[in-house]
Amino acid sequence: MILGIETSCDETSVALLNDQGEVLSNVVASQAIHELYDGVVPELASREHVQKMLPVLDRALAEADVGLDDVDAIAVTSGPGLVGSLLVGVTTAKGLALARDLPLLGVNHLEAHALSPFLEARDLEPPVLVLVVSGGHTLLVHVKALGELEVVGRTRDDAAGEAYDKVSVMLGLGYPGGPELERLAKNGDATAFDFPRSWLEPDTLDFSFSGIKTAVRVVLDRDEELRREPRSRDVAASFQAAVVEVLVTRTLAAAERLGVPSVAIAGGVAANGALRSAMETACRETRRRLVIPRLAYCGDNAAMIAHAGKLRLDRGERSDFSLDAQPNLPLGDVPNRAPSRKKRPR
Ligand code: KG4
Ligand code: ZN
Repeated sequence: MILGIETSCDETSVALLNDQGEVLSNVVASQAIHELYDGVVPELASREHVQKMLPVLDRALAEADVGLDDVDAIAVTSGPGLVGSLLVGVTTAKGLALARDLPLLGVNHLEAHALSPFLEARDLEPPVLVLVVSGGHTLLVHVKALGELEVVGRTRDDAAGEAYDKVSVMLGLGYPGGPELERLAKNGDATAFDFPRSWLEPDTLDFSFSGIKTAVRVVLDRDEELRREPRSRDVAASFQAAVVEVLVTRTLAAAERLGVPSVAIAGGVAANGALRSAMETACRETRRRLVIPRLAYCGDNAAMIAHAGKLRLDRGERSDFSLDAQPNLPLGDVPNRAPSRKKRPR
């Protein structure tokens, strides 16, 4: 049995996975405090992790109906993420591993997202093209084998979820606004505004979402009525149509170029109904298998961390006690290396 811990941003999560890789519990405690500030405040996030860590751990053990004596290994997100948040998880994991003499596995948060489709669909086999799309990240990952991941495209500025969150704040919907914006878009006209699709250079698989955010702001500044219902519905629907079109087109282009038969979406924005149905249609038309993990495995959660940790453990890997928070850990780097000095783009 492996215990997973996730604290990279504003969710405190602990999960238990048995030896067959089945999820026995996956407790996720979200932090409402950030709604007051229209975004995650790092210092508040780490304090909340400190308060929630042990109660969440106790609940995860209780829900799985096991004790710490049943745990054989500890997996924890070591990066990328907010350094203060990561430290709470990493020190908890090291404490548990040291006290109980258990193997410790540092897990790359992005790798865990990219591998979450394999937690959902146990029969899924690489190669798979995974769109990891969240508030902090937008990446196209080519999973060639379970231990061999390559980033083939990434956002050059804002993450798609970040664009949703910023536009949602502009429309007075609060933070995090992805779900609210999607709800507003449902009754809107997606052709009302022709927001820009940033295709960048012809050959690239990268994304850019800062231009569309600015375009929405310009339109809203021209007519204050657009910030309110009913007309804000058209803004939301047109914004969403542009973002979804770019995400789906790029993902399918990558799958086509790399000759990959299966596609998956992971990360918080995978909850978006418009993205899911557009990707379903595109995959059906090109005869590709599509896997979208259940919502509990899409947002930040410890089940995906335990899963990625178990895959490392099964390959005979483990981390030593020099494991530290690595705020800028790139995908493909083995957790344990010294942290780089760049800031995580958020
Ligand atoms: O993966 P996640 O829980 O946290 C990280 O950012 O790592 O993703 C949260 C992001 C937020 O930006 C949120 O607005 C977005 O996912 N999101 C959505 C939807 N549900 C969550 N965006 C669009 N539509 C949704 N239904
Ligand atoms: Zn995430």
